[in-house]
Amino acid sequence: MATRTPVVPDRTRIAELTAREAARLDSRTPASAALYERARHTLAGGVASSYQVRAPWPIYLERGHGSRVWDVDGNEMVDFHNGFGSMVQGHAHPAISAAVRDRLDLGTHFAAPTQDAVVVAEELKRRFGLPRWRYVNSGSEATMDAIRIARARTGRDTIVKIFGSYHGHHDYVMVSIGVPYDSIGDRDDLASLPYGAGIPQSVADMTVAVPFNDAPAMQRRIERLVAEGRPPACVIMEAAMMNLGIVLPEPGYLQAVREITRRHGIVLIFDEVKTGLCIAAGGATERFGVRPDMVTLAKALGGGLPTGAIGGTEEVFEVVEDGSVYQVGTYNGNPLGVAAARASLEQVLTPEAYAHLDKLNDHMVGSCQAIVERYDLPGYAVGVASKGCVTFAPKRIVDYESFKRYQDGELADLAWLYNLNRGVFMTPGREEEWTLSVQHTVEDCDVFVAAFEELARDLTR
Ligand SMILES: Cc1ncc(COP(=O)(O)O)c(C=O)c1O
Repeated sequence: MATRTPVVPDRTRIAELTAREAARLDSRTPASAALYERARHTLAGGVASSYQVRAPWPIYLERGHGSRVWDVDGNEMVDFHNGFGSMVQGHAHPAISAAVRDRLDLGTHFAAPTQDAVVVAEELKRRFGLPRWRYVNSGSEATMDAIRIARARTGRDTIVKIFGSYHGHHDYVMVSIGVPYDSIGDRDDLASLPYGAGIPQSVADMTVAVPFNDAPAMQRRIERLVAEGRPPACVIMEAAMMNLGIVLPEPGYLQAVREITRRHGIVLIFDEVKTGLCIAAGGATERFGVRPDMVTLAKALGGGLPTGAIGGTEEVFEVVEDGSVYQVGTYNGNPLGVAAARASLEQVLTPEAYAHLDKLNDHMVGSCQAIVERYDLPGYAVGVASKGCVTFAPKRIVDYESFKRYQDGELADLAWLYNLNRGVFMTPGREEEWTLSVQHTVEDCDVFVAAFEELARDLTR
């Protein structure tokens, strides 16, 4: 990248192509438009979650099979969205469908543990090297409960997170995400800003953000917090950031974080809601070789059912085992969810599956990078196992500040429209990445690559 001089994108051309592609998508999705007209009278914004909102209307899906999804207009697309990275197994995987079907006839909920819950915990222990586990129903519940456990374990209140990282929708962590560049604050004293309305500033103030990939900055901030009498209970972070496209940890960064947190008696939580089970059998913990005190899982764990888990050391989980922390939930370890998780772990996410994902992703990243270079686009392709993206930016992005400064958001929006109009179902938003599934093929990946090449050609024509 350093040796290339990328073309400066022509803003008028981007605007023209965006208008053309948006009109084309509108004309291909009349049934989504009609369903939106109906939905918006009952569902707020016509959708089930604010992350599904889209103007002028969302694309409503009807079904999925293998690597493909179909929208309500009958458009068939290769799925690179995969439920925000939950469906690394692909849709309607026969092993998971069979496990869920079998479980349906045996009763779907007891709020009492079943054998599958034990088997899944044993397998997670093997994969992540952490001896104690509990279940939850979503990523947000996982991070919320992990933080409570860390607070109880340390007797401290302050939370340290990475500026720009998303860890779910509860108040502890809906802080310092997605803010404009000029509101970020001083690098050594980043702002604690509630993400959206309804979050008390007093709660946000208990969460302190530091920049990613900067261990000295983390150390300085933690030392100041200690000096101020606010030592942190935990550092919660993704080992590789998955919501600025993808930002990989610089060499030595995670090891330094591990050392700093250990020295200060801080519980290190790797939020593996996106990375866990998707970038290696043992997630980022295995891939990057640094063992945290706790991990949080959700998304891909349930293979399409709402299931999450928290893993931790025996020391950390003492506060759960001795009853001082109530880690609870009616649907925790729900039989359908753990049956799906068991089938996924035992039959789908095998060593061969991870080798297949690595091979496909090398193809995706390599092909996209070759296009970037052939057309001199400002950007680069980056990925790890099932996940990847093309980041449109004249400089490499290492943290939230550089993301806000350099990411070409208009190009990211245009790429999404190109994808949708060319049979590629992709995550909306400028911060997301693709997720491949074990059911994807090289031919599926080439549908993405061809759409990207068409964009590159049209942009530089
Ligand atoms: C890293 C991370 N943690 C937590 C969450 C929250 O998960 P959920 O949406 O299941 O509550 C997300 C969701 O995108 C996430 O990406």
